[in-house]
Amino acid sequence: MIRCVAFAVLVLAVVITVGEKTTDVEVQGTRGGSIQLAPMIPEGFNTRDVYWRHMAMGEHLVASVSRGYPETTYQSRFLGRAHLHRGFTLEIRDLEVEDTGVFTCMLVSLEGQMLSMKYHVIVYEAVVQPTVQVFVSGGPKECSVFLRCNSSMGNNVSYTWRATTRQGDPVNTSYTLYNEGRLLITTLRPENSGASYTCIVANPVSHENVTVVPWESCVSLSEAAAPATMQVFVSGGPNECSVFLRCNSMTGNNVSYTWSANTRQGNPVNTSYSLYDEGRLLTATIRPEHMEASYTCTVANHVSQQNITVVPWESCLSLSGKPPKTQSYQQILCMASAIALAFVSLMICVLLLVKTSGLRSCSVQLANLDLVFQKTEPFTV
Ligand SMILES: *[C@@H]1O[C@H](CO)[C@@H](O)[C@H](O)[C@H]1NC(C)=O
Ligand SMILES: *[C@@H]1O[C@H](CO)[C@@H](O)[C@H](O)[C@H]1NC(C)=O
Ligand SMILES: *[C@@H]1O[C@H](CO)[C@@H](O)[C@H](O)[C@H]1NC(C)=O
Ligand SMILES: *[C@@H]1O[C@H](CO)[C@@H](O)[C@H](O)[C@H]1NC(C)=O
Ligand SMILES: *[C@@H]1O[C@H](CO)[C@@H](O)[C@H](O)[C@H]1NC(C)=O
Ligand SMILES: *[C@@H]1O[C@H](CO)[C@@H](O)[C@H](O)[C@H]1NC(C)=O
Ligand SMILES: *[C@@H]1O[C@H](CO)[C@@H](O)[C@H](O)[C@H]1NC(C)=O
Repeated sequence: MIRCVAFAVLVLAVVITVGEKTTDVEVQGTRGGSIQLAPMIPEGFNTRDVYWRHMAMGEHLVASVSRGYPETTYQSRFLGRAHLHRGFTLEIRDLEVEDTGVFTCMLVSLEGQMLSMKYHVIVYEAVVQPTVQVFVSGGPKECSVFLRCNSSMGNNVSYTWRATTRQGDPVNTSYTLYNEGRLLITTLRPENSGASYTCIVANPVSHENVTVVPWESCVSLSEAAAPATMQVFVSGGPNECSVFLRCNSMTGNNVSYTWSANTRQGNPVNTSYSLYDEGRLLTATIRPEHMEASYTCTVANHVSQQNITVVPWESCLSLSGKPPKTQSYQQILCMASAIALAFVSLMICVLLLVKTSGLRSCSVQLANLDLVFQKTEPFTV
């Protein structure tokens, strides 16, 4: 009898010990993944009933086994996700963050003994690669930098930073963190231009990182291409005018030059042109049918873009001073005045002959007349 009681006490002690041990079990799960909770059943414990419960905002029966039969009932939020395996191991699939809580397992033996265990389950959502927004102000001499790191997924996320050289060595630069590490503020000077900043987001089930080199943004602050200038060179005349256009931006890094030729209505003009000097120089031949063509030079780099437009025909016109029609009118006028002069000279000559019969002055007038005709000769082709 005493032996029997001692045995019972021993069993009770085991039960209590097991219960205390399992109370501390902490299980981490990942959202979308699964966990298996296996009760530790002492030898000689003849399990008859099993009750798995979940405690979080109220208590729910998750699964149960009655009278040793493999008959299980699944209820609550775990319906369809909870499965009992051999040894009464409970598996929860498709974990949700809200599954976080305490699972208890109560076992009842054929002899009526009870055994209970606790599992503290925390379900984490894995972090994803964060994004780092780079805000800069100042310029390449002294640049204020704000870096904001954000991982759109994950719970219990910690944010830490590492500043290194491009080779990965630590950088001797100080920075301040705000908002639990999400925001980093620092000042960069040329001597730490190579500093790269790595934001590491982590929680107990995952970690990701992303690296930025903010100096690149500091440099681009001064890199914007200056407004372009356009020089127009023309030669020839309004019937066929050769045009050189030189587009230039005095400042800016990695500037590219592109051109387009359009009508005033903005439609593309069917005209060919050649580009030289990495696109700075355009040459084209313009005829009256393209007199409306406007040429746009676009100057761009990765931080800026601007354009400038000219209508070179206007310069072609000014080349000859006046349009061709006006010139032929001028020829006619010239001819007319020459004939008029000749007529007047002849009349004077005749008058002189009549009045004084002197031949001298008449010959002078005739010489003048010759001169007039010589002058006009080139126009009378
Ligand atoms: C972080 O990213 C998430 C998802 O992209 C967005 O909803 C949230 O506003 C972001 N937070 C900050 C501080 O930018
Ligand atoms: C996770 O976050 C929750 C709520 O923010 C908090 O109650 C819990 O203690 C955190 N757990 C860990 C392991 O940091
Ligand atoms: C880091 O910079 C501080 C002051 O800016 C200087 O005193 C220190 O010697 C530097 N350390 C190294 C390793 O360059
Ligand atoms: C950043 O992530 C890459 C893999 O994505 C890993 O190789 C590297 O060690 C990580 N760096 C840090 C500082 O955690
Ligand atoms: C600018 O040009 C240099 C060399 O011409 C090149 O190495 C660099 O990648 C370019 N940067 C950008 C932003 O295009
Ligand atoms: C453009 O001009 C070329 C020759 O100058 C001609 O063959 C072609 O048909 C023209 N295209 C259009 C759309 O006018
Ligand atoms: C030229 O720049 C103006 C704004 O500055 C823009 O509206 C226009 O579309 C640009 N034109 C071309 C051909 O890029």
